[in-house]
Formats: sequence, C-alpha cells, structure tokens
Amino acid sequence: MKGSKAALAELLLPVAPEMERMRAILSAQILESSPAVSDMTDHVARFQGKQLRGALVLLTGEATGNTTDEHAAVAAIVELIHLATLVHDDILDGAEVRRRVACVNQRWDNQIAVLLGDFLYARAFALSTQLSSRLCSRLLADTTRTLCVGEIEQSTRRFDFEMSLADYEKIAGQKTASLYSAACELGARYPGGNQELGARMAEAGRCLGLAFQIVDDCLDLTAREEELGKTVGTDVEDGKVTLPVLHAYRASGEHARAAIRDAYTQPDVPDRRAALFAVCDVSAGVAEAEARARALVDSALEILATLPPSDASRSMEGLFQFVLSRNQ
Ligand code: FPP
Ligand code: MG
Repeated sequence: MKGSKAALAELLLPVAPEMERMRAILSAQILESSPAVSDMTDHVARFQGKQLRGALVLLTGEATGNTTDEHAAVAAIVELIHLATLVHDDILDGAEVRRRVACVNQRWDNQIAVLLGDFLYARAFALSTQLSSRLCSRLLADTTRTLCVGEIEQSTRRFDFEMSLADYEKIAGQKTASLYSAACELGARYPGGNQELGARMAEAGRCLGLAFQIVDDCLDLTAREEELGKTVGTDVEDGKVTLPVLHAYRASGEHARAAIRDAYTQPDVPDRRAALFAVCDVSAGVAEAEARARALVDSALEILATLPPSDASRSMEGLFQFVLSRNQ
C-alpha cells in the first residue's frame, strides 16, 4: 500500500501547479527581515502539513468551474490562518511536538508563540486586502471569530462528562469545521459568484471538517506519537471530553464513570490516557465516534455528487475518504 503522503500527492494532481503557486505565495508571505523572526518562520515552514484546507480551496474551485487567478492566494491565506491557529493551539494544549517538529512554545516559549501566531495571522489578512474582492477577508474574519468562540466554549466545558453530543459537535464545528467550510465556500464562489453553490459547498466542507475533528479526537486516544507526528493524549491531559470519551462514558456504569472522572482529574496520574483505557471500553467509544465520522463523510459525498463529474471532483471524493483513513 502507498504511503499516505504519496496517496495524497496523487489525489492533488489536478491542482498540482496551483498547489505549487500556493506554497510559493505562502513562503513569500512569511519572509521577514528580522533574523529572530525568520528563524521562527523557517521553523514553522518545516512543519508544513497536509495543507488540506488550501487544497480544498483549489479543488472546489476546479470542481465547480470557478477557478480564478487569485485562488492560489486565497488558498495561501487559508493555510496561513490555519498555521496561526495551530501555533496558538499548541500553547493552549501545552503540546510539545507538531508534524514531527518541536512546537513553537516548546522550541522557544509561550510568549514567542503568541506573537508568532499573531504575526502569521496579520500576514494572512495583509494578503487578503490585496485581493480584488473583499469576500475572502469578510468570510475569513467571520470564520476566525467563530473558531475563537469554539476554543473558548471548549475551554469552559473541560471535564464536562454530561455534555450532549450536539454540544460536542457544535464546538468541533466552530473550532475546526468552520475553516473547512470557508475553504470550500471560497473555492466555489470567490470572488462573489453563485451564493447557492457556495452554501452547498460550505455545507460539504462543514461535514468534512467535523469528520476530520472526530478522527483527530480518536487518534489522540489511539495513535502513537511517532506515527501521528504530534503529541498524543493531550485531550485527556487537558480535560477535553471528546466524542469517543463521551460514548465510552455513556456506556459505562456508575462505578466506571467515577473511574473515568478520576483518570481525568486525580492528581499525580502519570499517564491519563493509559488510566482511561484501564477503566472503560475506549475502543467501543472510538468505534462509535468513527461511525459518526463515516456518516458525516457520506453526507459530504452526497453534496459532492451534485457537481458534474470531473478529475477535481473525483480527487475531492478521494480526499474525503482520506480524512477517514488517515493515521497522521
Ligand atoms: C486544533 O484542535 C485547534 C483548532 C482547530 C483551532 C485552534 C484555534 C485557536 C487556538 C484560536 C487561534 C486564533 C487566532 C486568531 C490565531 P485540537 O487541539 O483538537 O487539534 P490538535 O490535535 O491538532 O492539536
Ligand atoms: Mg491541540
């Protein structure tokens, strides 16, 4: 079987030249004359990830026949915002490794990571003001507000084992699916375009982004750091009650529920993730969460099927499946 990197590169072939343009724009945006800052931006450039959100701008543009000369810049802006959110997120999570490289808060410190995240975010908006349409700035300003609200809500719901599944999805929708949704909407309608088509693709992106976050939450419980390339078990360490844990908690009796709460909260538990596995059926919770992710991807695929068949739409289909099968 092909490595997931090669499989992804093959899926992105219909937009390969535009992906290269997006990467060139991104690199140019993070150039800075300050040696200290350029040391840091070189570092984050090394943790270039899958760039799924940028790819979605480009693929959705192609699949809807809406590609413009500015789509590569829109994709770069989406990726810059994503990068800024990850730099900040790693501070919040106290994470150490991201994409097999030390997190900024680890390599330097939290203060630097706050400032570097702000720098990347500022670069994204500076670039968006150079575009011919304000749609990108407007939509992404709104998206950034939404993802901050999601992060704040998530923080206030730590250790909330009674959280409803709908509330979990609302938060995951805000913090993660919002940027996927915006990427697909911008691809389909930037610089203005067909609002109905934009709304349809935004919904496909929302379903995909939610599935991505659910898979992410499962991997945080099941993966090893060497495979995933980032710190694992941070959700349990930080008190985040994710979908697989909610399912495992709901399926447990009173005694096991108390033990789950203890695994999250008792002082001096050396490995909270391992403690959780020891007291409940985490795998059954993961299986239920994965089934929900599958259903969400099916909904996204149904929307995709309303587009005329093309190489780009077939690639998007593969990308949607990739989100479910990824192990990093
Ligand atoms: C990853 O979640 C985090 C996000 C999807 C969003 C984080 C957003 C912020 C911290 C707000 C930043 C705002 C600005 C303006 C830059 P996760 O922790 O579940 O995923 P992970 O496993 O990849 O860390
Ligand atoms: Mg995180």
